[in-house]
Amino acid sequence: MTVAADSLPAQLRCDCCGANPSSSKVVVSRGNPSARFMVIGEAPGAREDALGKPFVGRSGKLLDILLKDVGINPCRDVFICNAIKCRPPKNRRPTKKELIASLPWLNQQIELVDPWVIALAGSTAVEAVLGLKDKISTIRGVWQSWQGRMVMPLFHPSYLLRNSSRVEGAPITLTLGDLIKVQNRIKEFEKASTMPMLGIDMGGKS
Ligand code: URA
Repeated sequence: MTVAADSLPAQLRCDCCGANPSSSKVVVSRGNPSARFMVIGEAPGAREDALGKPFVGRSGKLLDILLKDVGINPCRDVFICNAIKCRPPKNRRPTKKELIASLPWLNQQIELVDPWVIALAGSTAVEAVLGLKDKISTIRGVWQSWQGRMVMPLFHPSYLLRNSSRVEGAPITLTLGDLIKVQNRIKEFEKASTMPMLGIDMGGKS
């Protein structure tokens, strides 16, 4: 979904974008809003700002490859968005103020998509959603629970671009393992939701 910043009603504008000269669009999402899996990144970069979609540059291409590697279709099986919706100047890390200003929108996206599993790509997304400042290398791959949802922190794809080895124990290999955990969990949820005998309400998605 793409939204021109000046076409939004004031209450929907991202607080940080009005004053941000390097941002031309509000980058909202891509993928399937009915998906059970949601990936949240940090912020749009130059390519995302130009095309109006998250993760469409080099790191997004790698993200799609990794998702496909574990059997997740990036168009059908996942909803992708960012902690903040506007490109920060010079691609700097979003400030705490920007993360807080953007949180109501992100929360609304989570509520509307209602995913079973959320992956947080990188430490900024972890901080934005979980409020944790842990190093991503210690928290990645460890299931977290947030407002009743399963949350999986991941290395950010831009870090994986700089560490492209696929040997055992390398960041990409670890991330593939983390995504397999996500995929397995979703399959378990799917199985449970199609077994009426269990009487589990899986949140209205069939
Ligand atoms: N990095 C992010 O965190 N998000 C994007 O959309 C692109 C790069």
